[in-house]
Amino acid sequence: MQRQLHLNLFIQSRGHHEASWRHPASSPLALTDIRYYQDLACRAEAALFDSIFFADQLALGDDAAESARTWLEPITVLSAIAVATSRIGLIATASTTYTEPFNLARQFASLDHISNGRVAWNIVTSWLATAARNFGGAGPLTHAERYERGEEFMTVVKALWDSWAEDAVVDDRKSGRYALAERIRPIDHRGDYYQVAGPLNLPRTPQGRPVLVQAGSSDTGRGFAARHADAVFTAHMEKATAQAFYADLKALVAAAGRAPGQVLILPGLSPMIASTEAEATRMALEVNELSDPEVGRKRLSGRFGGHDFSHLPLDRPLVPEDFPDPGSVEAARSRTEVIVGLVRREKPTLRQLLARLAGARGHFTMAGTPEQIADLIEDWFSDGAADGFNIMPPLLPVMLDVFSAEVIPILQRRGLFRTSYAGQTLRAHYGLDWPKSAFQEAALQEI
Ligand SMILES: Cc1cc2nc3c(=O)[nH]c(=O)nc-3n(C[C@H](O)[C@H](O)[C@H](O)COP(=O)(O)O)c2cc1C
Repeated sequence: MQRQLHLNLFIQSRGHHEASWRHPASSPLALTDIRYYQDLACRAEAALFDSIFFADQLALGDDAAESARTWLEPITVLSAIAVATSRIGLIATASTTYTEPFNLARQFASLDHISNGRVAWNIVTSWLATAARNFGGAGPLTHAERYERGEEFMTVVKALWDSWAEDAVVDDRKSGRYALAERIRPIDHRGDYYQVAGPLNLPRTPQGRPVLVQAGSSDTGRGFAARHADAVFTAHMEKATAQAFYADLKALVAAAGRAPGQVLILPGLSPMIASTEAEATRMALEVNELSDPEVGRKRLSGRFGGHDFSHLPLDRPLVPEDFPDPGSVEAARSRTEVIVGLVRREKPTLRQLLARLAGARGHFTMAGTPEQIADLIEDWFSDGAADGFNIMPPLLPVMLDVFSAEVIPILQRRGLFRTSYAGQTLRAHYGLDWPKSAFQEAALQEI
C-alpha cells in the first residue's frame, strides 16, 4: 500500500490566528464550554483525522486582557472528549518538570483505559519562565536541567506502565482470584530526582502504554525525541528547514537503535482556504487587521525568556542583533532560532515579523485554494519534510470544516489519506508497533 499521511488537529482558542477569537466567523461558544471542544473533536473524527491535540502552559500570560487563550486543563478535557468520541486519538500536554511521575503515569493510564486505547502524552519540560513561579521553586530550571530531570522522569513512567503484565488481571469469580500477584512487579526506582517504589495501581493499558509525542527541537530536545517519541511536532516557516530537521531526527532515531519509520514527524501547517488564492489572501489579511502588535510584542518577549523588546520601533527593518543569541535562551530555544533565522533571511520590520507570527507563532502559514494546500502537503510528504501534518486552522471551526470538506477528499483521491479508520487505537492509526512489555522481554531471556 502507498505510504499514508497522518493528520493531527491542533485545537487552540477559536483558531490559531492570534485574533481568531474576535473574528465574526469563529465559534460563538465560550472557551470554557466543553461542548466547544467535544464538537471540534467530533468534526475531526468525522473527517478521519488521526488525532486531536491540546497544548498547555502552567501560567497565565501577561496578555490575558487582550488575547483569548483559556487553559482548561488538558487531561480533564480529554476525559470529557473520550466519552463523546470513539475512534480519534487524543493527545494532552503535561509537564515533566511540574508533576510527579507516579501522578502522570496514573492519569495517562486512566485516560488510555477510559478511551479504549486512544491516548497520547505530549511530553514537555515547560519552557515558560512564569510557570516556575507557580510551583514554589527558587526559579526556572535551566534548559539542560529540565531535560535531565525529564530523562529520569521517562525511565520512571515507562517502568510504571510496564509494572503489570498484559495477563495480570484474571477477574475470576469462581476461584476468587482477581489478579496474578506474580505478574505485577514493583519498580524500586532510586535516582537523582525521583524515588518511586511502584507498581502502578492500574493494569496495563489498552495500547500497552500511551503513545508518546514530543516537540523539543533543540539538540537536547531532538536527542530526547529520538529516544522516547512515537511522534514529533515541529515548527518550520520554510520547507528547507523542515527537510533538514526531518533528516536529522530520523538519523538520530536510527542511531538510538530505533526504526526511523516508527517515529512520525508532523510539522505545523496553518492554512487559510478559499476557492481562489486572492480570496484566501484577502481573508488572511482581514484576520491580520484585527491583531494588535503590542500583544505580539509581549508574546515575543515570553518566547525569549522575558527579554525586553519595548524599545524596538515597529517600522525599521530588524537585524539578528536586535535579539538575544538563541543559544543563550533558556526558554523556547528552537522557536527563537526559527524567528532569528527569518530575521536574517528576510529583514522584516517588527510590525511585519509580528504579523507573520500572529498567524501561527512560527509555524508554516499559507493562503490558497484546496488544490494548492493539497499540493503543498503532498510535496512536503513526498520530499522528505514530513510524515503528516499538525493542522492548525487559523479560524475554528470554519477552517477545519473547509479543510475536511475540500482538502481531505483531494488527498484521498491521490491515495495519500485513509477513507475509513482501519484500527481502533491511536497506535494503529499511526502505524506504530505494539510496545513489548518488560514481562515478555524477561520471558524471552529465560528461553
Ligand atoms: C506543535 C508544538 C506544540 C507545543 N506544545 C507545547 C506545550 O503545550 N507546552 C509547552 O510548554 N511547550 C510546548 N511546545 C514547546 C516544546 O515542547 C519545546 O519546548 C520547544 O519546541 C523548544 O524546544 P526545546 O525545548 O528543545 O528547546 C510545543 C512545540 C510545538 C512545535
